[in-house]
Amino acid sequence: MNVLTPLVEPDEAAQSAPLRPEALRVVGQPLPHDSAVKHVCGEAVYIDDMPEPRELLHAYVRLSAHAHARIRRLDVAPALASPGVAAVLKAADIPGVNDVGPAFPGDPIFADGLVEYVGQSLFAVAGDSIALARQAALRAVVEYEVLPAVLSIDAALEQKFFVLPTQVMTNGDSVAALASAAHRLQGRIEVGGQDHFYLEGQIALAVPGEDDDMLVYSSTQHPTEVQHLVARSLKRPDHAVICETRRMGGGFGGKESQASLIAVVAALLAAKTRRPVKLRLDRDDDMQLTGKRHDFRIDWDVGFDRNGRIQGIEFMLAGRCGMSPDLSGAINDRAMFHSDNAYYLPNVTIVSHRCKTHTVSNTAFRGFGGPQGMMGIEAVMDAIARHLLLDPLLVRTRNFYGKTDRNVTPYHMTVEDNIAPELVAELARTSEYAKRRREVAAFNAASPWIKRGISLTPVKFGISFTLLHMNQAGALVHVYTDGSVQLNHGGTEMGQGLFLKVAQVVAEEFGIGVERVKITATTTEKVPNTSPTAASSGSDLNGKAAQAAARTIRARIAKVIAGEFGVEPEEIAFRDGEVRGGGRSLPFADAVKHAYRARVSLSSTGYYATPKLHYDTKLHRGRPFFYFAYGASVSEVEVDTLTGEYRLRRVDILHDVGASLNPAIDLGQIEGGFVQGMGWLTTEELWWDSQGRLRTHAPSTYKIPAVGDVPVDFRTSIWKRGRNRENAIYRSKAVGEPPLMHGISVFHALRDAVGACGDGLVELDSPATPERVLFAITKRRAAADHLAEAAE
Ligand code: MTE
Ligand code: MOS
Repeated sequence: MNVLTPLVEPDEAAQSAPLRPEALRVVGQPLPHDSAVKHVCGEAVYIDDMPEPRELLHAYVRLSAHAHARIRRLDVAPALASPGVAAVLKAADIPGVNDVGPAFPGDPIFADGLVEYVGQSLFAVAGDSIALARQAALRAVVEYEVLPAVLSIDAALEQKFFVLPTQVMTNGDSVAALASAAHRLQGRIEVGGQDHFYLEGQIALAVPGEDDDMLVYSSTQHPTEVQHLVARSLKRPDHAVICETRRMGGGFGGKESQASLIAVVAALLAAKTRRPVKLRLDRDDDMQLTGKRHDFRIDWDVGFDRNGRIQGIEFMLAGRCGMSPDLSGAINDRAMFHSDNAYYLPNVTIVSHRCKTHTVSNTAFRGFGGPQGMMGIEAVMDAIARHLLLDPLLVRTRNFYGKTDRNVTPYHMTVEDNIAPELVAELARTSEYAKRRREVAAFNAASPWIKRGISLTPVKFGISFTLLHMNQAGALVHVYTDGSVQLNHGGTEMGQGLFLKVAQVVAEEFGIGVERVKITATTTEKVPNTSPTAASSGSDLNGKAAQAAARTIRARIAKVIAGEFGVEPEEIAFRDGEVRGGGRSLPFADAVKHAYRARVSLSSTGYYATPKLHYDTKLHRGRPFFYFAYGASVSEVEVDTLTGEYRLRRVDILHDVGASLNPAIDLGQIEGGFVQGMGWLTTEELWWDSQGRLRTHAPSTYKIPAVGDVPVDFRTSIWKRGRNRENAIYRSKAVGEPPLMHGISVFHALRDAVGACGDGLVELDSPATPERVLFAITKRRAAADHLAEAAE
């Protein structure tokens, strides 16, 4: 491989992006997660830790045994007659609508005559214990008429079996550009799915109240949707149902839409028995019943010049949606949106098929289809580099978006905030990429069986919900007369530190310490009609809404105090626990008391809607994103080419969070996201058998990264020059999902090591388990031997 030519130098102009307006006291501090100590000591209260109400019943859901079948007979009488059983509930017993589809119908609460995946819910039993409910459920008699099942993406493509219509995104003329390009390559990559493996499984506790009231504690990213779907299934108005979520033990997208089913089943049983009901899925059932990251097949066809610059490109993306649409429309859209990653694709056509299979309905997972889209273009970059014998990093940088030209995306949005070139240049320097690339080459030349590989890959990730109306949020702030503050907003806490970040914003507005802001559970009672906490936009949306609420109250207090101090309200400052103006000051709590006595409201809602967004969903054109988050990572691996086993020698990450709201939380998100992404592309393998049964439904067979898999030499940095050029909350950037895609550099380091075992293209799909790595090496060595023989 060629030695790397010098990269772009840091662009000083990027530093002139607007800075934060003032010196901040609380925002930007690396405060520990508000529940960190409680998490570590086991004192954080998750739903299963709550004191159990009297007369509590436990629910169990019976799962379908076939991938595609008509239910000929369902006899639940033996279940009902089983000891300790209070109720059995099946499709016909649902008072309202038997569907929990979040965007489109297709997700029955209980199968109604037809099952479409192994693990689909058939009916539920409420009993005195989980064991009794389970025993009863297994006594029911189910008879199936088995139907032919579509189990793979390939089969779905062949039969044009889709859950939603195929979409096409285009810019320029890809056909002409491919035909006239100096070089042309085609290929395919298969990208595996991923189980969320949240530590706290899906769970809900439903408590019936008087009249029609139903209180549901749900481990959900979307309390409003749980509220609405519980109401709809019970045929009650939304106002009768409250959904409360204090925290989740991880969601990762798996509880964005699919927590609803669990909550709805608990609520239906609670309504029927008029007793509280808890439904906590066993891990094996959770993994079979609930959806995962979509696996994808990506076919590509690229034309490029002799420098490796893309002239034209076509992608065919086929995502496995499973048996229903769920959120697959938006997820497959996001795969299209990220088929460019950080690169300019001048003449591009992206065709996206939303494949239906008789497997569990796949759902949101950190990155929401974006990571899969990026895997396609990164495979293309690697292929171009190997074809032209260039360093892959050189090909990547040559294809980066420009600053003033070459800056329009396949969906016709102009990239205004491109910092990839300078961020990547900085990481290449601090990680000593060029030097280590030479060292890897030297090592490999001297080592026939152990091979090393290195790769630097960028990330550019669009921030906003691509469904326009979801980009809104509400908050409710109360200030009490002792100067303490209670904060509520529509966002949910799943470990990502959202509650703390929003509390920091509110504390900053009032000029008080964050300990005076009480972080409360999310409830549909306080803030209605909220969006899910997803698309990484929790702090952008809820931070701004809470800021608006706090500023309303602050202005009211300022007016009162300004009158007392004899100054204009604008001269009043809230700082360091005091309210100051005209040389005088009052402790915050005293100022609050003055305002109260002046009969001024100390409670306010706040609301925010993201500006600038517009999108034509038919033409696939517009501005779906407020801004982009950027980052890059370098991974170095060592592979035993006789077994395919490997280890990570070193990882360097440089990530842009704008001006961080909380660098400690952000660092945790970056490290955690990377490890989760690495797991997705290396060891986490979902394996279905020929009957459509998931055989990897427990940690015994499904391998998530453990502490020992984290690289020994792991260097993560927040980009110090990061600023959001858009007016996002305190110029920060969303951080939840983008770092997951740093896992792609591990995958490409493995490709690089495989590449060291022969010539030509590397064929490696994900997850790159040792088995797959070994196959890829064997194939390459066989081809090399073949060539050598032919030459003799
Ligand atoms: N971090 C933790 N610890 N646990 C989680 O479940 N979910 C991720 C990310 N980081 C998650 C997490 C996903 S999928 C998203 S969309 C964001 O957090 C959601 O939170 P945010 O919008 O507040 O960043
Ligand atoms: Mo995250 S996949 O948007 O919940």
